[in-house]
Amino acid sequence: MSEIENDDQGQALEPADRVKVVKEAVPGGEEEYRWHTGLNRPTGVPDAIEFIDVHKAFGRNKILKGLNLGLPEGKISMILGPSGTGKSVCIKHMVGLLYPDDGDVLVHGESVPNLRDEELFEMRKKFGVLFQDGALFGSMNLLDNVAFPLRQHTDKSEDEIMGIVNARLAEVGLTEAGDKMPNELSGGMRKRAGFARALVLDPDIVLFDEPDSGLDPVRTALLCELIQEIHKENGGAYTVITHDIMSARRVAEYIAVLWRGRIVEAGPAEELFNSDNDFVRQFLSGAAQGPLGME
Ligand SMILES: Nc1ncnc2c1ncn2[C@@H]1O[C@H](COP(=O)(O)OP(=O)(O)OP(=O)(O)O)[C@@H](O)[C@H]1O
Ligand SMILES: [Mg+2]
Repeated sequence: MSEIENDDQGQALEPADRVKVVKEAVPGGEEEYRWHTGLNRPTGVPDAIEFIDVHKAFGRNKILKGLNLGLPEGKISMILGPSGTGKSVCIKHMVGLLYPDDGDVLVHGESVPNLRDEELFEMRKKFGVLFQDGALFGSMNLLDNVAFPLRQHTDKSEDEIMGIVNARLAEVGLTEAGDKMPNELSGGMRKRAGFARALVLDPDIVLFDEPDSGLDPVRTALLCELIQEIHKENGGAYTVITHDIMSARRVAEYIAVLWRGRIVEAGPAEELFNSDNDFVRQFLSGAAQGPLGME
């Protein structure tokens, strides 16, 4: 029998208690969670997005194991964590593309898994999302790709739409590429086009899944600046997933470190960069030595 199915005294537990034991792992208790303090330092503002005790498995592969996470309103947050740990899975829960097996995901206090289809459609208007794979429509040129959310969700005239689209494409340096098809562009250009498309509706909540992957260092720096500028202009809760610690240093106001299905530690960026948690330190410094190996 696995350790999960026994309590400290070695007695068999009722099924309901079993779940509880898994959720309530204490720091230093289970070996797997030794580095998880679960510490969530206050930010002084309410959360735009909350994960409450979220469990998610694909078959026998448990990805989120009692995830508790809050992303503050009005700030640029970054979710950092090793590859394959569930960052993209988190984003898909926020927009209702995946549902938790257990627990809840709240957006502005509303439970996403409990929304009806029409409500979910409305809710999605709040979001600007850049998925990890860029996800442009292969059959549309860049102009039509970026115009798509405006045509789908607003009553704006074609002239207005083209005005917005051209302005957004210019911001990401793609003025000349409007009539190109996605497969005619480099990976970095596709990323930037996806970035422009994510922002056309002036969303309250912006989710960027690795906007900087596949970009050269100069473009990464420019993209970071652009994220900050647009955030300053529009406000809202931004969530950026990145593997680039430099990007995190540049733009993160809030950082959550995800590992093995839970938050190791979360809080204002400068506090995380000064964390004394061995895992957080190793991860934020990119060191080979530490609790994280090539797993
Ligand atoms: N739809 C799905 N069906 C089955 N397994 C999935 C599905 N989506 C994600 N997974 C699995 O969940 C785990 C976490 O995936 P996820 O894409 O969230 O990782 P990640 O943290 O974003 O990693 P990376 O930094 O490499 O992008 C992986 O093991 C992945 O194979
Ligand atoms: Mg990912």
